[in-house]
Amino acid sequence: MATERTLSIIKPDGTQRNLTGKINARFEDAGLRIVAQKRIWMSRKQAEGFYAVHAARPFFGELCDFMCSGPVVVQVLEGEGAIAKNREVMGATDPKKAAPGTIRADFALSIGENTVHGSDAPETAANEIAYFFAQTEIVG
Ligand code: CMP
Repeated sequence: MATERTLSIIKPDGTQRNLTGKINARFEDAGLRIVAQKRIWMSRKQAEGFYAVHAARPFFGELCDFMCSGPVVVQVLEGEGAIAKNREVMGATDPKKAAPGTIRADFALSIGENTVHGSDAPETAANEIAYFFAQTEIVG
C-alpha cells in the first residue's frame, strides 16, 4: 500500500477537554506520523469554506458554529494507507455507531461534537491539507 497523507482535525470538544495528547497517541500507536500540526481558532468563514461540500445540509450552520467555537488542532498524518487507517482509528461519524476502542467511541459526545475529523479520499485529503498548510510546513 502506498504512503499517503491525510488531514486530521481535533475539534473544539477535544481541545476543550485537553485530549490532544491522548488522541495523538492513538494516531502514533496506529503507525501514523504527525508530519504537520498547529493549533488554530478558525473564523466562521474558514469553517464555512472547509465544509463547503456540506453547505446544503440541514446541520451546516450548527457544524460551522461548532467548529469556530474554540481552538482546534489541524494536522497532517502520514503513513501506509493513511486515509483509511485514520478513519479506522477515528471510528464512525456517529459515536453510537463507532466500533469499541476507536477515538469517537471513547471520546465523542454526539454526531456533531465528534472530537475528530479525517479526510475521506485522496482528492479530498490533498484539498483539505492545502486548505490549512503550505508545503513548507509539512515535514515528513
Ligand atoms: P466530519 O467528519 O467533520 O464531517 C462533517 C461533519 O458534519 C461530521 O464530521 C459531523 O460532525 C457533522 N455531522 C454529520 N451529520 C450531522 C448531523 N446529523 N448533525 C450534526 N452534525 C452532523
